Amino acid sequence: MKPLLEVNNLCKTFPVRGGLFQGRREEVRVLDGVSISVQEGESVGLVGESGSGKTTLARVIAGFLSPTAGDVRWEGQPQSSFPRRQWAGRVQMVFQDPSASLNPKLSVGTLIQEALSVAEVSARTVESVLSDVGMPSDGSGLYPHQFSGGQKQRIAIARALAVGSRLLIADEPVSALDLSIQAQILNLLADLKEKWGLSLILISHDLTVVRQMTDRVVILDRGRVVETGPTQTVLGSPQSRVTQVLLDAVPKLLR
Ligand SMILES: Nc1ncnc2c1ncn2[C@@H]1O[C@H](COP(=O)(O)OP(=O)(O)O)[C@@H](O)[C@H]1O
Ligand SMILES: [Mg+2]
Repeated sequence: MKPLLEVNNLCKTFPVRGGLFQGRREEVRVLDGVSISVQEGESVGLVGESGSGKTTLARVIAGFLSPTAGDVRWEGQPQSSFPRRQWAGRVQMVFQDPSASLNPKLSVGTLIQEALSVAEVSARTVESVLSDVGMPSDGSGLYPHQFSGGQKQRIAIARALAVGSRLLIADEPVSALDLSIQAQILNLLADLKEKWGLSLILISHDLTVVRQMTDRVVILDRGRVVETGPTQTVLGSPQSRVTQVLLDAVPKLLR
């Protein structure tokens, strides 16, 4: 079966600001030959130290950045052949800081309505989308700042779902939240995945979260995939230095 998402030999370089070397613009290579795939309904953990290229990879997959080389495919079809809106209808991203991803000038109802209008097929209502993420339907007249961090993250997830996406990329979705709220949001993601058969790319530096939430894991180090496999196997007997370092950061009691 063709994977839902395939990333082949992806490279991404950025120009170095002010960086000129002998008249040539200098570049920094942030992703270097990354290949990953995600099957329908699968949860893949994307793990690596800060600066390893996780967010850049997520942004390329979501279509916010174009790759320097390599390609991204949906059921075998290249990303470049999809109109922007159609790609957005397949892949959505949830960010670490929900405040930054929700337009503060729009009510929650408008934010969800806007997302529903992007969906290719949608018979859903704002109320049903909100209830799916555990938000009261009478909250639709309120504005993002009137909600707590956890609730804002629920709204951001609701938006991603309203678009109709089958792949959610969650980039450190609970890192900015109070510890007591983190489990609730992770449970919500797990429930939604179950209910809608969503695929998930979960980016986290927290291996306890990754162990709990993912089937397979990809370890990124300085823009390269250094290890990949079933989560239990990779975390159970890590082969790379960086996996070991990240595991050492997990408090012993939680391992
Ligand atoms: N737009 C950009 N221009 C230049 N460098 C960037 C840009 N975006 C990210 N980088 C660099 O790419 C590297 C990887 O960043 P990022 O993908 O955010 O890593 P992670 O999410 O794993 O912490 C970092 O060194 C970062 O400074
Ligand atoms: Mg990041």
